[in-house]
Amino acid sequence: MSKLVYNFSAGPSVLPKQATKEAADAIIDFANTGIGILEMSHRTKPIESMVADTDSMLRALMGIPENYDIVFLGGGASLQFCMVPMNLLDQNASADYTDTGVWASKALKEAKQFGTVNVVCSSKAETYNHIPKQFNQTPGATYLHVTSNNTIYGTQWKQFPKANTYLVADMSSDILSRQVNVSDFGLIYAGAQKNMSCAGVTVAIIRKDVLGKVSRTIPTMLNYATHIPEKSMFNTPPVFAIYVMNRTLSWLKQNGGVPEMEKTNNKKSDLLYNVLDNSKLFTGTAAKEDRSTMNIPFVFKKDAVAAEKVEGFEKEFLAFTKEQGLDQLKGHRSVGGFRASIYNAMPIEGVEALVKTMAAFEKKILG
Ligand SMILES: Cc1ncc(COP(=O)(O)O)c(C=O)c1O
Repeated sequence: MSKLVYNFSAGPSVLPKQATKEAADAIIDFANTGIGILEMSHRTKPIESMVADTDSMLRALMGIPENYDIVFLGGGASLQFCMVPMNLLDQNASADYTDTGVWASKALKEAKQFGTVNVVCSSKAETYNHIPKQFNQTPGATYLHVTSNNTIYGTQWKQFPKANTYLVADMSSDILSRQVNVSDFGLIYAGAQKNMSCAGVTVAIIRKDVLGKVSRTIPTMLNYATHIPEKSMFNTPPVFAIYVMNRTLSWLKQNGGVPEMEKTNNKKSDLLYNVLDNSKLFTGTAAKEDRSTMNIPFVFKKDAVAAEKVEGFEKEFLAFTKEQGLDQLKGHRSVGGFRASIYNAMPIEGVEALVKTMAAFEKKILG
């Protein structure tokens, strides 16, 4: 048995123990075939039915309607930054993008290569510490792009804007963490390595009618229309990552599905935010109304720790948490301090252990 460590990494991140155990067993023998999953052709019945099963579980868990296709792709969410406009945005057309973080700005930078990009709002000047809510959409824009949860800054759209046409969302860091109405979106994409699986697979959920509207030639592998009829088997898909997703979705289903995850995620994040709101040492960095239930960045309060002591105390806090079995709490360099990523698979006991450790450190430093 390995020692108990709570892993607060932003991604790749904690997965359900049950899912990783099942995936580990499948490396040796997949579905009682006597062949390990890493050694098995994707053109075999067991793999084909596993991929189909993953599709139907995701469909059921998210309530994905029949007029949407699901594809499992490689290339990470970053490849979707270019695949989305390449497939949806015609040369002479425009798309609206909301600039709510580094990933959002990377998405809009890619889109500029394919059409006109209107940046309809940005919180960049305030280090992306909030989600701008007042903005005008551009008449005739093909779609409105949002980053559902901003992993680095810990902000999250609590209510999605109503798009004049349709929404496209990067849900990499909060897919399956809360209920969303898929019908509000023309396309949803997510790198799986936070809430769904290990690195290697990206999910795209595509409403059928958004495709086929651009005049450019799309390279075969970058064309959604290549992968949809082939059920993600046009070429060799990332089979193992899809299997880890399969097992994670099964765990999710057994544990009450998305509604139950949402309840627990609210409980976990409330617990940590409550501590941050009342601490003499720590404070959160995101605007209250936009605070994420998935990624919680926090820093030392300016009046609690003198500027020249911050770096030393940060190191001390990270070492202190590690001693208690709490790992990967270092903040992203653009925000500093600390970040607790508390995805679906982080049990509430992990957050309880973290707030206890924060209180003990506060006592140690401030008395
Ligand atoms: C919101 C968001 N979008 C996109 C990405 C990039 O994902 P990938 O590394 O799969 O390209 C990340 C990675 O952390 C992310 O958090």
